[in-house]
Amino acid sequence: MAIDFLHQQKGDDMAYQKKQKDDEEFSAGAKAGEGMTVEDLPGVGPKGAQKLKQAGYEDLMSIATASAGTLASVCEIGIPTAEKIINAARDKVDIGGYKTADLVLEKRKDIGKITTGSKSLDALLRGGLETQSITEGYGAFSSGKSQLGFQLSINVQLPKEKGGLNGKCLFIDCEATFRPERIQQMAEAAGLDAKKILKNIFVGKAYNSDHQVLLLEKSKDLIKEQGIKLIIIDSLTAHFRADYTGRGELNPRQQKLNKFIHKLQNFADTYNLAVYVTNQVMARPDIMFGDPTTHVGGHVVGHGTGVRLYLRKSKQTLRIARLIDSPHLPEGEAVFKVTEKGIED
Ligand SMILES: Nc1ncnc2c1ncn2[C@@H]1O[C@H](COP(=O)(O)OP(=O)(O)O)[C@@H](O)[C@H]1O
Ligand SMILES: [Mg+2]
Repeated sequence: MAIDFLHQQKGDDMAYQKKQKDDEEFSAGAKAGEGMTVEDLPGVGPKGAQKLKQAGYEDLMSIATASAGTLASVCEIGIPTAEKIINAARDKVDIGGYKTADLVLEKRKDIGKITTGSKSLDALLRGGLETQSITEGYGAFSSGKSQLGFQLSINVQLPKEKGGLNGKCLFIDCEATFRPERIQQMAEAAGLDAKKILKNIFVGKAYNSDHQVLLLEKSKDLIKEQGIKLIIIDSLTAHFRADYTGRGELNPRQQKLNKFIHKLQNFADTYNLAVYVTNQVMARPDIMFGDPTTHVGGHVVGHGTGVRLYLRKSKQTLRIARLIDSPHLPEGEAVFKVTEKGIED
């Protein structure tokens, strides 16, 4: 017993010493703390800055809004060190603070909408998919999640009077289900120049959850330069589910997913663009009797996303969309069709 305890303590000491060493390495060569880049933060040396950037903390804002626990674990440093760095970043950036509601309303006036192609679905969404927020389409296999994404990637390019935003689309394909032929078919059915439509859709194929995160992080310049008005993640959760399967891995998975969703929201706000993510619900027998709307990403997805659309298959081409937990839209249902032409009534 006593020996075990000693062993344990020795292990703890070694772990502590290793952390201390990590912390020292992290801070080696740190500057006094002037300037506005990650390298300039007090307590962050070149090695530390590199670690932070690798973990996705590329600017002061992302550090200022991070939690000490997450930062400590992804950068392998102690919590006190993480807290010090976060506080230093908070001193340097304007983290928003309070705004009067009239200014919030002013910003919301810039919200643009993208038609879904179905009048009934548009009516449910009060005009279509909104910019400045994330819309999640979730449902079983074949419920129309990807088809809606394809249609939106076309419709965002339409002029405003036709229900578009005159913008381009960024598409992160996580399930290898992106089909340009299908988009071509939909565009031609709408009498559009399909080649031009396809040229305005930037596709990134994500091979795993880390790659998915990286693709989004590296998209900032593309978004700015190309005038991206819609980001699609199809699907948001599949890689995260596959990459984190063991017990005890749920927490890191949710943290990483949470961070990814925050990044999406940040892009939606900063560039006034729309985000559409899909999420596949696993077929579960208890769904028949329980709540049919519970979905796999768990609460992170539920709270992080703005509008949640539960999609389900009905007879033949018919699909039913139900609006769940929207902060500003009443709950309701819409019936639409997925046909050769795309999404329609
Ligand atoms: N070219 C097409 N013509 C007509 N219907 C299509 C076409 N392509 C796909 N669909 C319809 O869309 C369904 C697949 O929907 P999809 O959005 O890809 O599913 P998921 O929800 O799994 O992403 C098919 O079962 C079919 O009903
Ligand atoms: Mg799909």
